[in-house]
Amino acid sequence: MMSLLTVEGLCAGYGELPVLHEVSLHVAEGEIVAIVGANGAGKSTLLSAIAGLLRPTAGRISFRGADITGRAAHRGPGAGLAMVPEGGKLFPFLTVEDNLLLGGYTNEDAKARAARLDEAMDTFPILRERRGQLAGKLSGGERQMCAVARAMMSRPALMMLDEPSVGLSPLMVERIFSVVETLVRREKLTVLLVEQNVGEALELADRAYVLDHGAIVLGGPAAELRRDARIRETYMGL
Ligand SMILES: Nc1ncnc2c1ncn2[C@@H]1O[C@H](COP(=O)(O)OP(=O)(O)OP(=O)(O)O)[C@@H](O)[C@H]1O
Ligand SMILES: [Mg+2]
Repeated sequence: MMSLLTVEGLCAGYGELPVLHEVSLHVAEGEIVAIVGANGAGKSTLLSAIAGLLRPTAGRISFRGADITGRAAHRGPGAGLAMVPEGGKLFPFLTVEDNLLLGGYTNEDAKARAARLDEAMDTFPILRERRGQLAGKLSGGERQMCAVARAMMSRPALMMLDEPSVGLSPLMVERIFSVVETLVRREKLTVLLVEQNVGEALELADRAYVLDHGAIVLGGPAAELRRDARIRETYMGL
């Protein structure tokens, strides 16, 4: 399978603080890949660097065969790269519908945007019920669904999700993850998912990497990592 995203020797940080140390990974078309790690391991920093929100100090990121290292984040959605940030980061004073439409801003065809909005609300029927409500008034689960739906509005090839399970009940986590699986099948979507919920993430993913203090320390098929004694002990409390 063709590699959709390749990260090689990526270093990034904040001012004088180095966070990522030569991170290398790849995501093939149609895969669900998880990056798991503890609080502060650098998971969000890694997604920010890939999305172009943070300029790497070294290394290379290529997406669909093009070098996108340091490319501005706003160019992502139009090029097939969408992100669901930590906590969803919706616009709280805009309606659900307007949040979704903003996710489709790169599509200049208003008819196509409206059709896509309809599809998003078919995927998450609760968003149709709440379409006129301010996003800031959504429940945690609804907010996360809205954030996923907003990212899908641009018909991305790769969707990156930053800890979509945070603060949600196990049942809600299952629902969101099952929608992600459906989207992968139905839309040939590829997913890079960052999670602290290691058990659930390894159930969903095809492959996973373990990020520890800004470095990849382990990687492989998710089924293998689920059986790995170190992972079970350190991250799953088993
Ligand atoms: N904007 C920032 N400015 C300075 N330091 C930051 C900034 N964001 C994150 N850091 C630091 O970078 C390190 C990695 O943080 P990051 O948010 O990437 O971790 P994470 O793995 O996403 O953690 P969590 O699971 O808690 O979200 C931490 O030490 C954090 O304090
Ligand atoms: Mg984070």
